[in-house]
Amino acid sequence: MKKERSSFTSRLGFVLAAAGSAVGLGNLWRFPYLAAKYGGGTFLLVYIILAITFGFTLMIAEIAIGRNTRLSCIGAYRKLDQRFGFLGWLASLVPVIITPYYCVIGGWVVKYLVEFVTGNGLQAAGDSYFASFTAAQLPGVFNSPVIWFVLYVLLNAVVVLFGVEKGIEKVSRVMMPVLVILSIVIAGYSLTIPGAMDGLKYYLLPRMEDFSIFTVLAAMGQLFYSMSLAMGIMITYGSYMQKDNILEHSVTQIEVFDTGFALLAGLMIIPAMVAFSGGDTALVRESAGAGLMFGVLPKVFESMMFGGVIGTIFFLLVLLAALTSSISLTETIVSILVDKLHIGRKPATVGVLLGVLLLGLLSCLGYGPLSAIQPLGMAFLDFFDFISNSILMPIVAFLTCILVGHVVGPKFIIDEVETSGAFHRKKLFVVMIRWIAPVMLLMILGTEILKFLGVISV
Ligand code: PFF
Repeated sequence: MKKERSSFTSRLGFVLAAAGSAVGLGNLWRFPYLAAKYGGGTFLLVYIILAITFGFTLMIAEIAIGRNTRLSCIGAYRKLDQRFGFLGWLASLVPVIITPYYCVIGGWVVKYLVEFVTGNGLQAAGDSYFASFTAAQLPGVFNSPVIWFVLYVLLNAVVVLFGVEKGIEKVSRVMMPVLVILSIVIAGYSLTIPGAMDGLKYYLLPRMEDFSIFTVLAAMGQLFYSMSLAMGIMITYGSYMQKDNILEHSVTQIEVFDTGFALLAGLMIIPAMVAFSGGDTALVRESAGAGLMFGVLPKVFESMMFGGVIGTIFFLLVLLAALTSSISLTETIVSILVDKLHIGRKPATVGVLLGVLLLGLLSCLGYGPLSAIQPLGMAFLDFFDFISNSILMPIVAFLTCILVGHVVGPKFIIDEVETSGAFHRKKLFVVMIRWIAPVMLLMILGTEILKFLGVISV
């Protein structure tokens, strides 16, 4: 007998759960470094335009597909059209690639948290600390990134195995507003650092000369990542959504929340970074990378009153945000295994965690002992990030647009949205999903491939 599919009990419940999955390291760790790297204000503008057009279109389509079919992504795509069944598998591959390296970064967060708790936060503010730590060059077992990665995976495992995610989610619901307030305080403080105003200008004012196809490319990859799009997640969430939930409203709320958080994270980090580099924005661009949040924020805390305490609370909250996201990533993979292989939840979870440990180890050691191995010329972590964000997600998004826009037709989505309320941006949705989004996605994929072949360079 088929079990009744459980539903979110309230409208807010849905939005909070989806936002909990969406808001994570993508907002706090990934967005600021991409914004710093790809021209500050120019990136910001492109990102916001894409969020309200492209992100909106894809998110509403995915949630509506889930709510209509009441299936998670593998079954849902197949139900819409038999020939698109493979798309569900392709989308499911994305969390498989992301989760291991997500846990590696989660491990870095735990390490920084412990440094702050034990009063060593100032040491972590040193210039070379992050590079030495991630390259596994610091002496002592507790300075090995592997230990912290394993610890993070265990934390994640405890939550998923013992099914206490409800607890974590409750805690994080209370804590997220605290994180927002704390981030506003930190951003406010960052702006008082001498030289930060130049940074603020860099972050907020678009300059035409910074614009290139790469800005769009990076912004779009980030959009998928941050809003958990093009990986089947929102379809699954939608399948739990009640029919009377006003879909367009919920989508707008998730988008505003997710984007607002990212903007705030940029505000904390980028002006301070420009200030620390003596206003040299060329240097900022060049040096912005995966270590940005970890390099800049401890320096900000170092110069703040009660910096040690603030740093501790901050990293604790980041850890919570990361956990709510990695739990939902892990859960996604576990539920696919349970459904498709008909195995129990416990063995599936253990299997997934072992896989995460194994694959994650590559990313964890990729800046150090394994740095000689560079798939596509990148360290492992960057490689996995690239494959998922720049290749797989655009392909999944493109095929979703074709499926919705030209195979089943946009009316399918429109009807689903309108069962529970008005669809104000209907026209925008139709034009986007049928024409603009697929063409842009093709351009993006084409550019990625040319870049990969070395025909063009960033
Ligand atoms: N959107 C999350 C972030 O920005 O950190 C990453 C993520 C979490 C992707 C959960 C997918 C997911 F299921």
